[in-house]
Amino acid sequence: MNKYTAIIPAAGIGARMQTSTPKQYVSINGKTMLEHTVNVFLNEPMIDQVIVVIHPEDKHFKSLHISSSPKLHTVIGGEERADSVLAGVAFADSELQSEWVLVHDAARPGLSNEALQRLIYELSNSSGGILATKCVDTVKQSSDETIDKTLNRQKIWLAQTPQMFRTSILLQALSDAKRNKLTITDEASAVEMQGIDVKLVEGEKSNFKVTTPEDLMLAEYYLSKEEKE
Ligand code: C5P
Repeated sequence: MNKYTAIIPAAGIGARMQTSTPKQYVSINGKTMLEHTVNVFLNEPMIDQVIVVIHPEDKHFKSLHISSSPKLHTVIGGEERADSVLAGVAFADSELQSEWVLVHDAARPGLSNEALQRLIYELSNSSGGILATKCVDTVKQSSDETIDKTLNRQKIWLAQTPQMFRTSILLQALSDAKRNKLTITDEASAVEMQGIDVKLVEGEKSNFKVTTPEDLMLAEYYLSKEEKE
C-alpha cells in the first residue's frame, strides 16, 4: 500500500498564456515549468508515487528527464481540469492503492518542501485540506461594475494547491460532482459539497499559479532564489 501519491494535472492547453507550447512546458531558468513542479514531489521522501496527467496528444512529456523516474506514472486527462484529476485519482485508487492523494497544479512551480511537509503533517488526523493564504486586500463583491458589498476579509482565504484528501473521499466527491454536472474549480469544493470538513493550512506567496506571460518573470525570481538557498 502506498501512503501518499501526488497527482499533477498537466493536460491543459494553457490558452491564457499566449505561447505556442502549453504553459506547463514553457521553460523557466533552463527547465520546463512541469519539471520544476514534479521535482518538488520526486525529491520529497514522504511522497511514494507521482502521477502526471497529460493531454491525449501530448508530444513533450516523454522527452523530459523526469519521465523515466521509477516513482512516476502517466495517465491521460480529460476535457476539464476536474476530469483530468478524476482520472488521476481513479488510478491512484485502483492501481496504486494509495491512502492519500495530493493534487497540485503543474502551473504552480514555486511550492516549497516546507509548505508541502506542513500540509502533510497538519492533515494527518483529518479527512483532508488545502494550502491557502489569508487575503490581505479588501474584497468587494459585485455582479456588474458597481459594488454590492464589502466582504469581511478576516474570513477570506485564497485557495492554493496541493489539495490533499483521503483517496476514497476525493474519488467519491469528484464522481458525484461529475454525475450531478456540477462545475468545480478545485478539489476542495467537491469535498465541501459532501458536507465534509476541509482544513486550511497556511500556504505561501511563491506557490502562486502561473497564468499570464507577466507571471513568468515572478516565477523565474522565486525559482532562482530557491536554487541559491
Ligand atoms: O487552466 P488552469 O490554469 O486552470 O489549469 C490548471 C491546471 O490544470 C494546469 O496544470 C493544467 O494543465 C491542468 N488541466 C488539466 N486538464 C484540463 C485542463 C487543465 O490537467 N482539461
